Amino acid sequence: MSDTAAVTTASPFADRLLAMNESATIAMAKKSRELMAKGFDVINLSFGEPDFQTPQYIKDAAKQALDDGYTFYSPVPGYPDLRQAICDKFKRDNHLEYLPNQIVVSTGAKQSLANVIMSMVNPGDEVIVFSPYWVSYEEMVKLAEGTSVALVGTLENDYKVTAEQLEAAITERTKLIMYSSPCNPTGAVFSRQELGAIAAVLARHPQVYALADEIYEYINFVGEHVSLAQFPEVRDRVITVNGFSKGYAMTGWRLGYLAARQDIASACEKMQSQITSGTCSITQRAGLAALLGGRASADEMVEAYRRRRGLVLEIVRDIPGFKTPTPSGAFYIFPEVSAYFGRTAPDGSTINNSMDLAMYLLNDALVSAVSGEAFGAPECMRFSTAAADEKLVEAFRRVKASLAKL
Ligand SMILES: Cc1ncc(COP(=O)(O)O)c(C=O)c1O
Repeated sequence: MSDTAAVTTASPFADRLLAMNESATIAMAKKSRELMAKGFDVINLSFGEPDFQTPQYIKDAAKQALDDGYTFYSPVPGYPDLRQAICDKFKRDNHLEYLPNQIVVSTGAKQSLANVIMSMVNPGDEVIVFSPYWVSYEEMVKLAEGTSVALVGTLENDYKVTAEQLEAAITERTKLIMYSSPCNPTGAVFSRQELGAIAAVLARHPQVYALADEIYEYINFVGEHVSLAQFPEVRDRVITVNGFSKGYAMTGWRLGYLAARQDIASACEKMQSQITSGTCSITQRAGLAALLGGRASADEMVEAYRRRRGLVLEIVRDIPGFKTPTPSGAFYIFPEVSAYFGRTAPDGSTINNSMDLAMYLLNDALVSAVSGEAFGAPECMRFSTAAADEKLVEAFRRVKASLAKL
């Protein structure tokens, strides 16, 4: 027996854990924190987190919830009044009619996505993941022992997968497609026409379901947000996931939800009942207040994100070798950076890939970004634009100067 085999046999951990990658965004943040602890002035653009505080009226509702005694277990799929408010939100924003028993409130959109994948994907089922994708999609599919099939959009089409590509990728083993719009990491937003064409493909394949991640719905610079569930021919097979982390700047509260056909919602409720039960009671009361307050607070934040997008693009467009589509939503830029691969850094090392480039920028420019590898786009790099204007300007000024040394 080789040494490696002996170590593997002795590991206390399950194969599913060993097969799983650590989140690249979390790993990068860890490295930048280490540098900061040594006194370096690192600008962290690796996180997918609004830099805004949660609006005060939402915080006040949480305090009130404690005083009102919301300290007990909640129903697994969420308080009835919160589920009703979510239905009202779907009606108001998305022109979609759901009943409260079609809504499952979870500990973040992340858990909603996991609930669906764990409830619907059997070992060997194929899940078509529109790529570039959010880091956790592939790992969740792996956890369910499904086969994820990355379908890669092109730079020319702002990385959006087309209906033609989807049609060609569907097999009799395809169970689910999943995507985010607005997209993390690219910021692309599907138009009504594009999603309509995707709906038409799905209509021809009745065994295929769709998981539409709309967590960035409110952070949209082009105006119209389209839900795949709005197309009647596929509505019953679309599970829409959304949450409070991005639109209401509530990342730490852990609150998300899904809307689906009633049997799918019940399945997700059953899955959740054995893992976490209902999410935090106080968080849910805060979430109810957030929804009843409408989207004014989100709209204010969007104006800041729009301004920052402009500031950043102005500098980035001037960086030789970066090919950066204009993001239509979310708070990232996702340049193609492969022009720098093969170049030599001042210390003599070679930049072989976007991981090396991210590490070089962290050490030389003291700016942390995430390699596109974890998003299924190894030739790209993701920078968050959720930071103060002056920090963004300084960060991209430093990035430009460091790249000029290669
Ligand atoms: C595309 C996408 N989906 C889901 C999530 C998870 O959101 P939540 O904080 O609600 O779990 C994120 C968070 O970064 C995301 O970027």
